[in-house]
Amino acid sequence: MSSSGLGDSSVIVTGAGSGIGRAAALRFAHEGAKVVVADLNGESAKAVVAEIQAAGGTAVAVAGDLSDPAVVDEVVTTAVDTFGGLDVLVNNAGIMDRMSAAADVSDAEWDRVIRVNLTAPFLLTRAALPHMLAKGKGAIVNTASEAALRGSAAGTAYTVSKHGIAGLTRSVAVMYRNAGIRANAIAPGGTITGITLDIDPEAHGPKALGAYMHNVGRTAQADEQAAVIVFLASDAASNINGAILPVDNGWAAV
Ligand SMILES: NC(=O)c1ccc[n+]([C@@H]2O[C@H](COP(=O)([O-])OP(=O)(O)OC[C@H]3O[C@@H](n4cnc5c(N)ncnc54)[C@H](O)[C@@H]3O)[C@@H](O)[C@H]2O)c1
Repeated sequence: MSSSGLGDSSVIVTGAGSGIGRAAALRFAHEGAKVVVADLNGESAKAVVAEIQAAGGTAVAVAGDLSDPAVVDEVVTTAVDTFGGLDVLVNNAGIMDRMSAAADVSDAEWDRVIRVNLTAPFLLTRAALPHMLAKGKGAIVNTASEAALRGSAAGTAYTVSKHGIAGLTRSVAVMYRNAGIRANAIAPGGTITGITLDIDPEAHGPKALGAYMHNVGRTAQADEQAAVIVFLASDAASNINGAILPVDNGWAAV
């Protein structure tokens, strides 16, 4: 058992096939946790599981779209049936919007971003809580964003979804604080991952936000976000509950 309290724990990391989620899954496994690697992209989920196993860790892949309640059930059931319970849920999977301002957001952009970034984490939280309550212990860590803190970090749909994640985090933190369950979030600033690869920087990228986006700070490595996720899930953070923690080289302080 490691001093983090994560040794032998059962952990779900969503969006763990790439970027911040992948780095978090590797760190949890290094702590001795057993990890459900959940991702839309089955090939990348399997590759991360293979990476964990090659390093002597324990992990299992679940592929599917987490905005589908059946996939949510499969992820939670896999953790409980394979690893004997559920100790940590990391709601990390997310997608960017098209940087659209409110008048330009299509129904499709709104529905998809809210469904993946906000509804899926809610569905996972709802499915996970009974298993944590049964143990009298649990930690939920959500990947929010600088866009949970300000209106100038993304388009309207993404900004609303990440403000929603902050609300979900605080609500769960307060309502389950006497049941041994903590909920916290990281609010990453710009981080090098796969998320921005399909965004045309001229039409839809940061340049589309022009003067609104400034003083953003240094771009982070995915592992700098993952380290904070694992800390918030660990016993070292036992009295941190309901925090939305900027991990952004000071952007939120500007
Ligand atoms: N990279 C940044 O600059 C940045 C900044 C702030 C917040 N974030 C947040 O970090 C989180 C992780 O993103 P990342 O930057 O590592 O990007 P990424 O694209 O590298 O990883 C995201 C992963 O989520 C998966 N995913 C997407 N939709 C899914 C769905 N419906 N079901 C299951 N899996 C799905 C993708 O397949 C991918 O593997 C997201 O919530 C994102 O909003 C990122």
